[in-house]
Amino acid sequence: MRIYLIGFMGAGKSTLGPLLAKKLGYSCIETDILVEKLAGLTIPEIFRIHGEHHFRELEKHVLHFTQLCEDTVICTGGGTPCYANNLEWMKMHGLTIYLSCDDEVLIQRIENSQKERPLFTNQKSIVELLDARRKFYQQAHMHVLNNNTPETTIKNLVKAIPKNYNK
Ligand code: S3P
Repeated sequence: MRIYLIGFMGAGKSTLGPLLAKKLGYSCIETDILVEKLAGLTIPEIFRIHGEHHFRELEKHVLHFTQLCEDTVICTGGGTPCYANNLEWMKMHGLTIYLSCDDEVLIQRIENSQKERPLFTNQKSIVELLDARRKFYQQAHMHVLNNNTPETTIKNLVKAIPKNYNK
């Protein structure tokens, strides 16, 4: 089975993905890391040198590669479900879980994070991006809140996985 964690930057996908994978005895991969390996560049370099459109092409490419991964938690980038037909594709190839947080929590996490995010310019742009993207995230199979500690969220994530799910 494949589990796709989707949600905005700072929602906790990269923190919770490996924890969930460990609980389930699964592997865990991050599409951003696959993109960087494929390009031989960091995400900010890809945006700077080739532009966002090229990044989205690579992102779609590595996403399709994940259909070869069995029993894997896949941590996607914040924009992954919002481009091409990535959301429908993920829903056909696995269980999609939307990890969400309150806007204030997200903004604080993004501001305090070490990860360089080309799309983070200021708080206003983040709120606008969030408003535009919510409609995509909300179509995921499951929705789990991550305003609490990782321990609490992990329990809720495990509970959210249907027992008879087999994609
Ligand atoms: C992006 C989010 C980033 C990364 C890229 C674009 C986005 O991943 O894929 O900078 O469009 O929201 P995280 O969600 O892990 O920050």
